[in-house]
Amino acid sequence: MTGTSNSILVTGGAGFIGSNFIFRWIENVGSPIVNLDLLTYAGNPSNLVTIENDKRYQLVRGDICDAELVAHTLQEHRPRAIVHFAAESHVDRSIADPGAFIRTNVQGTFTLLEQAKQYWKSLGDSDKKAFRFLHVSTDEVYGTLGPDDPAFSETTAYAPNSPYAASKAASDHLARAYFHTYGMPVLTTNCSNNYGPFQFPEKLIPLMILNALEGKPLPVYGDGANVRDWLFVDDHCSAIRTVLERGRLGETYNIGGNSERKNLDVVSTICDLVDELQPNPAQGPRRRLIKFVTDRPGHDRRYAIDASKIDRELGWRPSVDFERGLRETVGWYLEHASWVENVRTGAYLVWIRQNYEERTAR
Ligand code: NAD
Ligand code: TYD
Repeated sequence: MTGTSNSILVTGGAGFIGSNFIFRWIENVGSPIVNLDLLTYAGNPSNLVTIENDKRYQLVRGDICDAELVAHTLQEHRPRAIVHFAAESHVDRSIADPGAFIRTNVQGTFTLLEQAKQYWKSLGDSDKKAFRFLHVSTDEVYGTLGPDDPAFSETTAYAPNSPYAASKAASDHLARAYFHTYGMPVLTTNCSNNYGPFQFPEKLIPLMILNALEGKPLPVYGDGANVRDWLFVDDHCSAIRTVLERGRLGETYNIGGNSERKNLDVVSTICDLVDELQPNPAQGPRRRLIKFVTDRPGHDRRYAIDASKIDRELGWRPSVDFERGLRETVGWYLEHASWVENVRTGAYLVWIRQNYEERTAR
Protein backbone atom coordinates (compact mmCIF):
# COMPACT_ATOMS: atom_id res chain seq x y z
CA MET A 1 0.00 0.00 0.00
CA THR A 2 1.41 3.40 -1.01
CA GLY A 3 -0.08 6.84 -0.59
CA THR A 4 -1.20 9.47 -3.07
CA SER A 5 1.01 12.14 -4.59
CA ASN A 6 0.09 15.79 -4.78
CA SER A 7 -1.01 15.44 -8.39
CA ILE A 8 -4.47 15.23 -9.88
CA LEU A 9 -5.55 13.27 -12.96
CA VAL A 10 -7.86 14.85 -15.51
CA THR A 11 -9.41 12.95 -18.41
CA GLY A 12 -10.17 14.74 -21.68
CA GLY A 13 -7.83 17.61 -20.84
CA ALA A 14 -6.97 18.26 -24.48
CA GLY A 15 -10.56 19.23 -25.26
CA PHE A 16 -12.23 22.60 -24.83
CA ILE A 17 -13.09 22.74 -21.13
CA GLY A 18 -10.28 20.40 -20.08
CA SER A 19 -7.52 22.53 -21.58
CA ASN A 20 -8.93 25.71 -20.05
CA PHE A 21 -9.15 23.82 -16.73
CA ILE A 22 -5.49 22.75 -16.94
CA PHE A 23 -4.31 26.33 -17.62
CA ARG A 24 -6.33 27.73 -14.74
CA TRP A 25 -5.19 24.88 -12.46
CA ILE A 26 -1.51 25.58 -13.12
CA GLU A 27 -2.17 29.29 -12.55
CA ASN A 28 -4.34 29.04 -9.43
CA VAL A 29 -3.30 25.81 -7.71
CA GLY A 30 0.06 25.02 -9.25
CA SER A 31 0.30 21.37 -8.23
CA PRO A 32 1.05 18.65 -10.86
CA ILE A 33 -1.67 17.66 -13.30
CA VAL A 34 -1.73 14.56 -15.50
CA ASN A 35 -3.97 14.53 -18.58
CA LEU A 36 -5.31 11.20 -19.88
CA ASP A 37 -6.71 11.90 -23.33
CA LEU A 38 -7.32 9.78 -26.42
CA LEU A 39 -6.84 12.82 -28.69
CA THR A 40 -9.97 12.23 -30.75
CA TYR A 41 -10.98 14.82 -33.34
CA ALA A 42 -11.97 17.05 -30.38
CA GLY A 43 -8.70 16.67 -28.47
CA ASN A 44 -5.94 18.94 -29.56
CA PRO A 45 -2.54 18.77 -27.84
CA SER A 46 -1.60 22.09 -29.46
CA ASN A 47 -4.13 23.70 -27.06
CA LEU A 48 -1.57 23.00 -24.33
CA VAL A 49 1.60 23.79 -26.26
CA THR A 50 2.48 26.72 -23.97
CA ILE A 51 2.80 24.37 -20.99
CA GLU A 52 4.05 21.20 -22.67
CA ASN A 53 7.52 21.67 -21.13
CA ASP A 54 6.18 22.63 -17.71
CA LYS A 55 7.25 19.95 -15.22
CA ARG A 56 3.86 20.17 -13.54
CA TYR A 57 2.03 18.98 -16.67
CA GLN A 58 2.05 15.59 -18.35
CA LEU A 59 -0.02 14.12 -21.19
CA VAL A 60 -0.80 10.39 -21.30
CA ARG A 61 -2.35 9.50 -24.64
CA GLY A 62 -4.94 6.77 -24.15
CA ASP A 63 -8.52 5.63 -23.93
CA ILE A 64 -10.62 5.73 -20.75
CA CYS A 65 -12.20 2.48 -21.97
CA ASP A 66 -8.80 0.75 -21.62
CA ALA A 67 -8.93 -0.63 -18.06
CA GLU A 68 -5.30 -1.72 -18.03
CA LEU A 69 -4.04 1.66 -19.15
CA VAL A 70 -6.24 3.48 -16.62
CA ALA A 71 -5.00 1.19 -13.81
CA HIS A 72 -1.39 1.69 -14.87
CA THR A 73 -1.80 5.49 -15.07
CA LEU A 74 -3.28 5.58 -11.56
CA GLN A 75 -0.49 3.38 -10.17
CA GLU A 76 2.20 5.44 -11.82
CA HIS A 77 0.97 8.93 -10.93
CA ARG A 78 -0.95 8.19 -7.71
CA PRO A 79 -3.30 11.16 -8.01
CA ARG A 80 -5.14 12.58 -5.01
CA ALA A 81 -8.15 13.32 -7.22
CA ILE A 82 -9.66 12.60 -10.64
CA VAL A 83 -11.58 15.21 -12.63
CA HIS A 84 -13.42 13.42 -15.42
CA PHE A 85 -14.05 15.55 -18.53
CA ALA A 86 -13.46 12.98 -21.30
CA ALA A 87 -16.57 12.49 -23.39
CA GLU A 88 -18.10 12.66 -26.80
CA SER A 89 -19.80 16.02 -26.40
CA HIS A 90 -21.62 17.18 -29.54
CA VAL A 91 -25.39 16.59 -29.75
CA ASP A 92 -25.52 16.62 -33.58
CA ARG A 93 -22.79 13.96 -33.77
CA SER A 94 -24.72 11.87 -31.21
CA ILE A 95 -27.70 11.92 -33.56
CA ALA A 96 -25.53 10.81 -36.48
CA ASP A 97 -23.44 8.22 -34.56
CA PRO A 98 -24.80 7.38 -31.08
CA GLY A 99 -22.55 4.31 -30.64
CA ALA A 100 -19.43 6.41 -30.02
CA PHE A 101 -21.30 8.18 -27.19
CA ILE A 102 -22.31 4.96 -25.47
CA ARG A 103 -18.74 3.71 -25.70
CA THR A 104 -16.89 6.70 -24.28
CA ASN A 105 -19.51 8.31 -22.06
CA VAL A 106 -21.03 5.14 -20.56
CA GLN A 107 -18.45 2.35 -20.95
CA GLY A 108 -15.56 4.79 -20.48
CA THR A 109 -16.99 6.36 -17.33
CA PHE A 110 -17.74 2.89 -15.94
CA THR A 111 -14.16 1.75 -16.65
CA LEU A 112 -12.72 4.85 -15.03
CA LEU A 113 -14.96 4.52 -11.96
CA GLU A 114 -14.11 0.84 -11.58
CA GLN A 115 -10.36 1.40 -11.83
CA ALA A 116 -10.59 4.45 -9.56
CA LYS A 117 -12.44 2.29 -7.02
CA GLN A 118 -9.66 -0.35 -7.00
CA TYR A 119 -7.04 2.37 -6.62
CA TRP A 120 -8.99 4.23 -3.93
CA LYS A 121 -9.57 1.02 -1.93
CA SER A 122 -5.82 0.38 -1.87
CA LEU A 123 -5.07 3.73 -0.18
CA GLY A 124 -4.40 4.22 3.51
CA ASP A 125 -7.12 5.77 5.66
CA SER A 126 -6.18 9.45 5.42
CA ASP A 127 -5.46 9.38 1.65
CA LYS A 128 -8.66 7.41 1.14
CA LYS A 129 -10.60 10.07 3.00
CA ALA A 130 -9.01 12.91 1.07
CA PHE A 131 -9.46 11.30 -2.38
CA ARG A 132 -12.05 12.80 -4.77
CA PHE A 133 -13.64 11.68 -8.04
CA LEU A 134 -15.33 14.63 -9.74
CA HIS A 135 -17.61 13.72 -12.62
CA VAL A 136 -18.21 16.63 -15.02
CA SER A 137 -21.69 16.54 -16.53
CA THR A 138 -24.27 18.64 -18.30
CA ASP A 139 -27.65 20.27 -17.73
CA GLU A 140 -28.93 18.39 -20.80
CA VAL A 141 -29.66 15.34 -18.60
CA TYR A 142 -32.74 17.21 -17.31
CA GLY A 143 -34.38 17.45 -20.74
CA THR A 144 -36.20 20.53 -21.94
CA LEU A 145 -38.18 23.39 -20.37
CA GLY A 146 -41.23 25.38 -21.43
CA PRO A 147 -40.92 29.19 -21.48
CA ASP A 148 -42.33 29.62 -17.96
CA ASP A 149 -40.98 26.51 -16.26
CA PRO A 150 -38.67 26.97 -13.30
CA ALA A 151 -34.97 26.42 -14.04
CA PHE A 152 -33.36 22.97 -13.54
CA SER A 153 -32.42 22.31 -9.93
CA GLU A 154 -30.48 19.36 -8.53
CA THR A 155 -33.79 17.64 -7.74
CA THR A 156 -35.29 18.00 -11.23
CA ALA A 157 -36.07 14.54 -12.63
CA TYR A 158 -33.73 13.27 -15.33
CA ALA A 159 -35.37 13.28 -18.79
CA PRO A 160 -32.58 13.20 -21.39
CA ASN A 161 -33.74 13.68 -24.99
CA SER A 162 -30.68 13.21 -27.23
CA PRO A 163 -28.32 10.22 -27.36
CA TYR A 164 -25.63 12.57 -25.96
CA ALA A 165 -27.83 13.57 -23.01
CA ALA A 166 -28.90 9.96 -22.42
CA SER A 167 -25.28 8.78 -22.35
CA LYS A 168 -24.33 11.54 -19.90
CA ALA A 169 -27.36 10.70 -17.74
CA ALA A 170 -26.23 7.05 -17.64
CA SER A 171 -22.74 8.14 -16.60
CA ASP A 172 -24.20 10.37 -13.85
CA HIS A 173 -26.16 7.39 -12.51
CA LEU A 174 -23.02 5.25 -12.45
CA ALA A 175 -21.11 7.96 -10.58
CA ARG A 176 -23.96 8.22 -8.07
CA ALA A 177 -24.07 4.42 -7.63
CA TYR A 178 -20.34 4.28 -6.85
CA PHE A 179 -20.88 6.73 -4.00
CA HIS A 180 -23.93 4.97 -2.60
CA THR A 181 -22.76 1.40 -3.05
CA TYR A 182 -19.04 1.56 -2.42
CA GLY A 183 -18.77 4.83 -0.48
CA MET A 184 -16.41 6.22 -3.10
CA PRO A 185 -15.93 9.98 -2.63
CA VAL A 186 -17.76 11.07 -5.78
CA LEU A 187 -18.99 14.56 -6.70
CA THR A 188 -21.01 15.46 -9.81
CA THR A 189 -21.44 18.82 -11.53
CA ASN A 190 -24.13 19.60 -14.12
CA CYS A 191 -23.30 22.69 -16.10
CA SER A 192 -24.98 24.73 -18.82
CA ASN A 193 -23.48 25.60 -22.25
CA ASN A 194 -19.88 26.80 -22.07
CA TYR A 195 -18.16 29.17 -24.47
CA GLY A 196 -14.67 30.69 -24.67
CA PRO A 197 -11.19 30.06 -26.12
CA PHE A 198 -10.28 26.66 -27.62
CA GLN A 199 -13.85 25.52 -28.30
CA PHE A 200 -13.98 23.24 -31.32
CA PRO A 201 -15.79 25.09 -34.14
CA GLU A 202 -18.58 22.54 -34.51
CA LYS A 203 -20.46 24.13 -31.57
CA LEU A 204 -22.75 27.12 -32.04
CA ILE A 205 -20.59 30.04 -30.90
CA PRO A 206 -17.22 29.26 -32.55
CA LEU A 207 -18.93 27.98 -35.71
CA MET A 208 -20.83 31.25 -36.09
CA ILE A 209 -17.78 33.40 -35.33
CA LEU A 210 -15.68 31.66 -38.00
CA ASN A 211 -18.46 31.57 -40.61
CA ALA A 212 -19.20 35.27 -40.01
CA LEU A 213 -15.50 36.13 -40.43
CA GLU A 214 -15.38 34.24 -43.71
CA GLY A 215 -18.67 35.56 -45.07
CA LYS A 216 -20.26 32.08 -45.02
CA PRO A 217 -23.94 31.36 -44.22
CA LEU A 218 -24.86 31.23 -40.51
CA PRO A 219 -27.11 28.13 -40.19
CA VAL A 220 -29.67 28.73 -37.42
CA TYR A 221 -31.69 25.58 -36.67
CA GLY A 222 -35.49 25.85 -36.68
CA ASP A 223 -36.89 29.27 -35.75
CA GLY A 224 -33.81 30.31 -33.72
CA ALA A 225 -35.93 30.73 -30.58
CA ASN A 226 -34.36 27.82 -28.67
CA VAL A 227 -32.87 29.07 -25.42
CA ARG A 228 -29.58 28.09 -23.81
CA ASP A 229 -27.92 29.33 -20.62
CA TRP A 230 -24.33 30.38 -21.36
CA LEU A 231 -21.34 30.26 -19.01
CA PHE A 232 -17.83 31.55 -19.76
CA VAL A 233 -15.46 28.57 -19.54
CA ASP A 234 -13.20 30.13 -16.87
CA ASP A 235 -16.21 30.37 -14.58
CA HIS A 236 -16.97 26.69 -15.12
CA CYS A 237 -13.34 25.87 -14.24
CA SER A 238 -13.48 27.91 -11.03
CA ALA A 239 -16.74 26.19 -10.07
CA ILE A 240 -15.13 22.77 -10.57
CA ARG A 241 -12.15 23.75 -8.41
CA THR A 242 -14.58 24.95 -5.74
CA VAL A 243 -16.60 21.72 -5.75
CA LEU A 244 -13.40 19.65 -5.73
CA GLU A 245 -12.15 21.53 -2.70
CA ARG A 246 -15.30 21.96 -0.65
CA GLY A 247 -18.20 20.02 -2.23
CA ARG A 248 -20.13 17.61 0.00
CA LEU A 249 -19.46 14.00 -0.95
CA GLY A 250 -22.12 12.28 -3.01
CA GLU A 251 -23.77 15.60 -3.89
CA THR A 252 -24.50 17.06 -7.30
CA TYR A 253 -24.07 20.78 -8.01
CA ASN A 254 -25.73 22.65 -10.87
CA ILE A 255 -23.52 25.30 -12.45
CA GLY A 256 -24.90 28.08 -14.66
CA GLY A 257 -24.29 31.57 -15.96
CA ASN A 258 -27.66 33.27 -15.31
CA SER A 259 -27.48 34.13 -19.02
CA GLU A 260 -30.41 32.68 -20.89
CA ARG A 261 -30.34 33.71 -24.54
CA LYS A 262 -32.26 32.76 -27.69
CA ASN A 263 -29.96 31.28 -30.34
CA LEU A 264 -30.94 33.97 -32.83
CA ASP A 265 -29.93 36.68 -30.35
CA VAL A 266 -26.58 34.98 -29.73
CA VAL A 267 -25.88 34.74 -33.47
CA SER A 268 -26.98 38.36 -34.08
CA THR A 269 -24.69 39.62 -31.30
CA ILE A 270 -21.79 37.64 -32.79
CA CYS A 271 -22.49 39.29 -36.16
CA ASP A 272 -22.37 42.76 -34.58
CA LEU A 273 -19.14 41.98 -32.69
CA VAL A 274 -17.45 40.65 -35.84
CA ASP A 275 -18.61 43.76 -37.75
CA GLU A 276 -17.07 45.91 -35.04
CA LEU A 277 -13.80 44.02 -34.49
CA GLN A 278 -13.13 43.06 -38.14
CA PRO A 279 -15.08 45.52 -40.28
CA ASN A 280 -15.73 44.60 -43.89
CA PRO A 281 -18.05 47.34 -45.21
CA ALA A 282 -17.88 45.98 -48.76
CA GLN A 283 -19.62 42.79 -47.55
CA GLY A 284 -22.37 44.59 -45.62
CA PRO A 285 -23.55 43.70 -42.10
CA ARG A 286 -22.90 40.06 -41.14
CA ARG A 287 -26.51 39.64 -39.98
CA ARG A 288 -27.41 39.23 -43.64
CA LEU A 289 -25.59 35.86 -43.54
CA ILE A 290 -28.14 34.37 -41.10
CA LYS A 291 -30.03 31.44 -42.69
CA PHE A 292 -32.78 29.48 -40.97
CA VAL A 293 -32.26 25.79 -41.76
CA THR A 294 -33.90 22.43 -41.01
CA ASP A 295 -34.21 21.90 -37.27
CA ARG A 296 -32.20 19.39 -35.21
CA PRO A 297 -34.37 16.27 -34.56
CA GLY A 298 -35.66 16.29 -30.96
CA HIS A 299 -34.19 19.79 -30.45
CA ASP A 300 -34.57 20.78 -26.76
CA ARG A 301 -36.40 24.09 -26.57
CA ARG A 302 -34.98 25.67 -23.45
CA TYR A 303 -32.32 25.05 -20.80
CA ALA A 304 -32.03 27.13 -17.64
CA ILE A 305 -30.04 26.46 -14.49
CA ASP A 306 -30.88 27.23 -10.89
CA ALA A 307 -27.36 27.55 -9.47
CA SER A 308 -28.44 28.63 -5.99
CA LYS A 309 -27.14 25.47 -4.26
CA ILE A 310 -23.49 25.99 -5.21
CA ASP A 311 -23.81 29.68 -4.26
CA ARG A 312 -25.46 28.95 -0.91
CA GLU A 313 -23.25 26.02 0.10
CA LEU A 314 -19.91 26.87 -1.48
CA GLY A 315 -20.11 30.61 -2.23
CA TRP A 316 -19.54 30.19 -5.99
CA ARG A 317 -21.23 32.36 -8.59
CA PRO A 318 -20.32 33.33 -12.16
CA SER A 319 -18.08 36.36 -12.58
CA VAL A 320 -18.12 37.03 -16.35
CA ASP A 321 -21.30 38.41 -17.90
CA PHE A 322 -22.29 37.08 -21.31
CA GLU A 323 -21.66 40.26 -23.32
CA ARG A 324 -18.13 40.64 -21.93
CA GLY A 325 -17.33 36.93 -22.32
CA LEU A 326 -18.64 36.85 -25.89
CA ARG A 327 -16.57 39.91 -26.86
CA GLU A 328 -13.47 38.28 -25.37
CA THR A 329 -14.23 35.03 -27.21
CA VAL A 330 -14.71 36.71 -30.60
CA GLY A 331 -11.41 38.57 -29.99
CA TRP A 332 -9.66 35.27 -29.17
CA TYR A 333 -10.75 33.60 -32.42
CA LEU A 334 -9.65 36.68 -34.38
CA GLU A 335 -6.21 36.51 -32.79
CA HIS A 336 -5.74 32.74 -33.20
CA ALA A 337 -6.07 32.16 -36.93
CA SER A 338 -3.38 29.48 -36.95
CA TRP A 339 -5.12 27.48 -34.18
CA VAL A 340 -8.30 27.63 -36.26
CA GLU A 341 -6.39 26.54 -39.36
CA ASN A 342 -4.96 23.53 -37.48
CA VAL A 343 -8.26 22.22 -36.13
CA ARG A 344 -10.13 22.54 -39.39
CA THR A 345 -8.63 19.41 -40.86
CA GLY A 346 -10.11 16.98 -43.38
CA ALA A 347 -12.20 15.22 -40.71
CA TYR A 348 -13.70 18.55 -39.64
CA LEU A 349 -14.63 19.43 -43.20
CA VAL A 350 -16.26 16.02 -43.68
CA TRP A 351 -18.41 16.64 -40.59
CA ILE A 352 -19.42 20.11 -41.73
CA ARG A 353 -20.49 18.71 -45.08
CA GLN A 354 -22.37 15.82 -43.41
CA ASN A 355 -24.23 18.04 -40.92
CA TYR A 356 -25.12 20.99 -43.13
CA GLU A 357 -25.40 19.72 -46.71
CA GLU A 358 -28.77 18.07 -46.14
CA ARG A 359 -30.25 20.97 -44.16
CA THR A 360 -32.42 22.94 -46.51
CA ALA A 361 -33.47 26.55 -46.02
CA ARG A 362 -36.71 26.80 -44.04
P1 NAD B 1 -14.67 18.25 -26.00
O1 NAD B 1 -15.43 17.42 -26.97
O2 NAD B 1 -14.13 19.56 -26.43
O3 NAD B 1 -13.42 17.40 -25.44
C1 NAD B 1 -13.53 16.06 -25.09
C2 NAD B 1 -12.13 15.53 -24.82
O4 NAD B 1 -12.24 14.15 -24.41
C3 NAD B 1 -11.20 15.55 -26.03
O5 NAD B 1 -9.93 16.02 -25.67
C4 NAD B 1 -11.14 14.09 -26.48
O6 NAD B 1 -9.92 13.75 -27.13
C5 NAD B 1 -11.29 13.38 -25.15
N1 NAD B 1 -11.82 12.00 -25.29
C6 NAD B 1 -12.90 11.62 -26.01
N2 NAD B 1 -13.06 10.28 -25.93
C7 NAD B 1 -12.09 9.82 -25.10
C8 NAD B 1 -11.74 8.54 -24.61
N3 NAD B 1 -12.45 7.44 -24.94
N4 NAD B 1 -10.67 8.44 -23.78
C9 NAD B 1 -9.95 9.53 -23.43
N5 NAD B 1 -10.22 10.78 -23.88
C10 NAD B 1 -11.28 10.92 -24.71
O7 NAD B 1 -15.62 18.39 -24.74
P2 NAD B 1 -15.84 19.66 -23.77
O8 NAD B 1 -16.80 20.59 -24.41
O9 NAD B 1 -14.53 20.15 -23.31
O10 NAD B 1 -16.61 18.94 -22.57
C11 NAD B 1 -15.89 18.34 -21.50
C12 NAD B 1 -16.87 17.70 -20.53
O11 NAD B 1 -17.76 18.69 -20.03
C13 NAD B 1 -17.75 16.62 -21.17
O12 NAD B 1 -17.90 15.57 -20.23
C14 NAD B 1 -19.08 17.31 -21.41
O13 NAD B 1 -20.15 16.41 -21.35
C15 NAD B 1 -19.11 18.29 -20.24
N6 NAD B 1 -19.87 19.53 -20.48
C16 NAD B 1 -19.63 20.29 -21.60
C17 NAD B 1 -20.33 21.48 -21.78
C18 NAD B 1 -20.07 22.37 -22.97
O14 NAD B 1 -20.80 23.34 -23.18
N7 NAD B 1 -19.04 22.12 -23.77
C19 NAD B 1 -21.30 21.88 -20.84
C20 NAD B 1 -21.52 21.06 -19.71
C21 NAD B 1 -20.79 19.89 -19.54
P1 TYD C 1 -24.54 23.46 -29.49
O1 TYD C 1 -23.43 24.45 -29.45
O2 TYD C 1 -24.41 22.29 -30.41
O3 TYD C 1 -24.81 23.01 -27.99
P2 TYD C 1 -26.06 22.13 -27.37
O4 TYD C 1 -26.76 21.45 -28.45
O5 TYD C 1 -25.30 21.17 -26.51
O6 TYD C 1 -26.89 23.10 -26.60
O7 TYD C 1 -25.86 24.22 -29.90
C1 TYD C 1 -26.36 25.31 -29.14
C2 TYD C 1 -27.69 25.71 -29.74
O8 TYD C 1 -27.48 26.23 -31.05
C3 TYD C 1 -28.65 24.55 -29.90
O9 TYD C 1 -29.97 25.03 -29.62
C4 TYD C 1 -28.53 24.17 -31.36
C5 TYD C 1 -28.21 25.49 -32.04
N1 TYD C 1 -27.36 25.41 -33.26
C6 TYD C 1 -27.77 26.05 -34.43
O10 TYD C 1 -28.82 26.70 -34.48
N2 TYD C 1 -26.95 25.98 -35.53
C7 TYD C 1 -25.78 25.28 -35.53
O11 TYD C 1 -25.10 25.21 -36.57
C8 TYD C 1 -25.38 24.64 -34.31
C9 TYD C 1 -24.09 23.86 -34.23
C10 TYD C 1 -26.20 24.73 -33.19
